[in-house]
Amino acid sequence: MIKTKITSTGSYLPEKRLTNIDIEKIIDTSDAWITERTGIKERRIANESETTSELAYCAAKRALEKKNINSCELDLIIVATVSGDMPFPATACILQDKLGAKKAAAFDISAACCGFLYGMSIADSFIKTGLYKKILLVGVEVLSKFIDWNDRSTCILFGDGAGAAILEPTNSDSGIISTHLYSDGSLWDLIHIPGGGALHPTSKYTLENKLHYIKMRGNETYKVAVKILESLVIDTLKANNLNPSDLSLLIPHQANLRIILSTAKRLGIGLEKILINIDKYGNTSAASIPIALDEAIDSGRIKKGDYVLLEAIGAGLTWASALIRW
Ligand code: UT7
Repeated sequence: MIKTKITSTGSYLPEKRLTNIDIEKIIDTSDAWITERTGIKERRIANESETTSELAYCAAKRALEKKNINSCELDLIIVATVSGDMPFPATACILQDKLGAKKAAAFDISAACCGFLYGMSIADSFIKTGLYKKILLVGVEVLSKFIDWNDRSTCILFGDGAGAAILEPTNSDSGIISTHLYSDGSLWDLIHIPGGGALHPTSKYTLENKLHYIKMRGNETYKVAVKILESLVIDTLKANNLNPSDLSLLIPHQANLRIILSTAKRLGIGLEKILINIDKYGNTSAASIPIALDEAIDSGRIKKGDYVLLEAIGAGLTWASALIRW
C-alpha cells in the first residue's frame, strides 16, 4: 500500500529577535510574568521585506536544496497561513512564482495553528490516490503585522516564521500512519481578527476600533486546549493500537509551555520525549509544527522506526494530529 513520506524539511526564522525585556519597554508587562505564564523568552519579527511569501520561499528553498529537488518537479504547493501577503491571490501562488515551480497547482488553507496538520492530511490523501507525487507543504505566519502592540494579552505571544516539508509516496514501512482533523465552529470567536473581511470591510470604523488586530480570549482558550489535547493524543494513539509509552517524540504546537507541560503530565510522557522551542520563537501558529519538526530532524532527535506524534489546537477552534512512523 502506498504511504506518504516526509522526505525533506526546511525552516526560516527572521533574524530580528524581540525579547521579553524589549517588550517590557513597550507595555506594562514583565519578563518574569511572560516567562512564568507562557515559557516564552523571545520571538522573531519579520522586517519590511520579509513578507509571508518571502519567509515561505526561504523555508521551501532549504527543504528543496537539502534533497536536491528542482522546484519544477513539484506537483502541488499548499501553504497553511492566516497571515498571507494579501486576501487574494493565495500566498501559495506567489510562492510558486518565486520558486519557478511552473508545473505545480497551488492553494492556501486557513486552519490557523492546525494549518500544517490540515495541509498534511490533504497532501497525504492526494498522494495516496496517486494524483500527485511531489508536494510542497509550508506553514508560515507573519502575525507581527496583525498584532496590537498595546494589547499585552496578545503581543507577548506571537512570533513570525516558516517551516516547509516535501511529501512523496513510498512503499516502505515508514510514513504517515494517520491524520485526525477536528473543529468546533461554535468557538470561532475565541481567537479571531474581526475586521478586513466581508463581515467588517476595512473602514474608518474598523481602523479606529482596531478590528484589524488579533483578538483572543486567552484564558478560555487555554482551558479548552488543555482538555482537548489530552484526548486528541490518546485517541490518535488508540486508533493505531499504541500507548503514550510507544512514542519516541511528541511535537506539540508551541502555544504555551504550561499547556505543553500539562498535556505531558496527564499523558505520563517524559519531557525528554517532547520537542519544546517556544522559549526561542513564541507562538508561530501554522509555522510552529514544521519549524519544530525541522529542528527535531536536524538535531538528530528522530531516528528511523520512531513513532512521532504531531498535535495542535488553534483558532476556529480547530485541532488536529498526525502519527508518523519515521
Ligand atoms: O495558538 C492558538 C492557541 N492559543 C492559545 O492556546 C493561547 C492560550 N492562552 C494562554 O496562553 C494564556 O491564557 C495567556 C498567556 C494568553 C494568558 O495567561 P493567563 O494565565 O490565562 O492570564 P489571564 O488572561 O487569566 O490574566 C491574568 C492576569 C490579568 O490580570 P488581573 O485581571 O488578574 O489583574 C491580566 O490582566 O494577568 C494579566 N495579564 C498580564 N500581566 C502582565 C495579561 N497579560 C499580561 C501580561 N503581562 N502580558
